[in-house]
Amino acid sequence: MMAGCDIKDRKLAPGGRLRIEWAERQMPVLRLIRERFAKGKPLKGARVGACLHVTSETANLMRTLKEGGASVALCASNPLSTQDDVAASLVEDYGIPVFAVHGEDKKTYYDHVLKVLDTKPSITMDDGGDLVSTLHSERKELLKGIVAGTEETTTGVIRFRAMERDKVLKFPIIAVNDALTKHLFDNRYGTGQSSLDGILRATNVLLAGKNFVVAGYGWCGRGVANRAKGAGASVIVTEIDPLKAIEAAMDGFRVMPMAHAAREGDIFITATGNKHVIRSEHMTAMKDGAIMCNTGHFNVEIEIPALQKLAASHRTIRKEVEEYVLGDGKKLFLLSEGRLVNLAAAEGHPASVMDMSFANQALCAEHIVKAGKALETRVHPVPGKIDEEVARLKLESMGISIDRLTPEQEKYLRSWTDGT
Ligand code: ADE
Repeated sequence: MMAGCDIKDRKLAPGGRLRIEWAERQMPVLRLIRERFAKGKPLKGARVGACLHVTSETANLMRTLKEGGASVALCASNPLSTQDDVAASLVEDYGIPVFAVHGEDKKTYYDHVLKVLDTKPSITMDDGGDLVSTLHSERKELLKGIVAGTEETTTGVIRFRAMERDKVLKFPIIAVNDALTKHLFDNRYGTGQSSLDGILRATNVLLAGKNFVVAGYGWCGRGVANRAKGAGASVIVTEIDPLKAIEAAMDGFRVMPMAHAAREGDIFITATGNKHVIRSEHMTAMKDGAIMCNTGHFNVEIEIPALQKLAASHRTIRKEVEEYVLGDGKKLFLLSEGRLVNLAAAEGHPASVMDMSFANQALCAEHIVKAGKALETRVHPVPGKIDEEVARLKLESMGISIDRLTPEQEKYLRSWTDGT
C-alpha cells in the first residue's frame, strides 16, 4: 500500500503523464539503465528518500529507481519548481508518494521534507541539502538507518563539505554534481539554456542589444553568459575569483565589479551560490527598468529585503514579474521572487541534459547498495567508472563514434624516452 501524499490535484495526472513520456524520449541513457534495473532489481530493499525538483525529468529518475526494486518517496527541493501535473502522475500512474505543491510556503515545504523522512529512507537523494540537513537536525534518530546519500547540486555539495569539515556529517554522501558528465553539461548547457528560457517566458524581452550582467563565472555562469552572447546581448561578467575573471575576459566578456555593472545593466542574473551579490547600493545605482533574477539554488543572491526596504510600492505586473517602485519613481523588476528563474518561470533543464545527471544518480544509488556500510563517512566523488559509462552511453545514444588509440599511440603515451 502506498504511503500518503500531498499534491495539488490528482486529476492533473493525464497531462503530467504526457510530459513524463515526452521527457523520456530525450533520456535514452536513463532508459537503458531502467531496462537493466527492471531485470536485475539491483536496488531491491532500498528505501530512497528524494528531495529534488519535481519535474518530468525527475519523474523518470523516480520510475527508474522503482523499477530497480527500491521504494521511493519524493518531496520538492524548491517551493516554486514543482510541476503539479507531474506530481499527480507520479502518484496516480506510477504509485510513487509525492509531497510537493507548486507555490507551497516555507512551513509546508519543510513539512513535506519531514514526510519523506517519515518513510525512514536508507538512501537520501538531495538537491541543495535540505533533506540531509533536516535529518541531521530534526530526525537524528533516523541517522542510523541511512547507508549513504547523493547530492545533485553545487550548493548542496558545498554544504556537505562544510558539515564534513565541522565533523558533523553522519553518513557518506556521493557528490553527483562533481561528476564530469554532470556539471560540464547540466550546469553549463542546462542552466545556460533554461535560465534564458525562464527570463524570456517571464518577460518576453528582446535580448539582442541589451546589457546582460552575469554574476559568477562558474559552470552555470559560463553557460548563461555564452547563451546570452549567442542571443546578441552585450554580456558583462562579475567575479570574485581572479582566475575565473581572466577566463571570462579571454572568453570575450567585459569584466567589472558589480558596483560598475549595476549602472550599465538592463538584465541581471546571479549564478554565484553566495548571498547578497546584488545589494541595496547596487539597486540604487541601477537604471530605470532594470530586470533582476537568480539562477542559483537559494533565493539569497539578490538581497530581496533591501529591495523591499527601498521600494515605496510594489505590484505583480505579469506572472513571475514583480515591479518595485523606488522612492524616486524608478522601477526595478524582480523575476520569480529571486528563486531559480529556470525552474520557476520555465521548466528547468531540458531532458537530454538531465539524462546524464540522473543516470549518475541512478548508478550511484546502485553503487551505494553494492557498497553497503563499507563507504566511509565523508563526501565522495562519483566513481570514475560511472562517469565514463554515462559518457559512453550518451555518446552512443547521440549516434557519435570516436577514434581509438592505435597500439603505437598507446605505447608513445606510456613512454618518456621520445623527445625532440
Ligand atoms: N534541475 C535543473 N533542471 C532540472 C530539471 N529539469 N529536473 C530536475 N532538476 C533540475
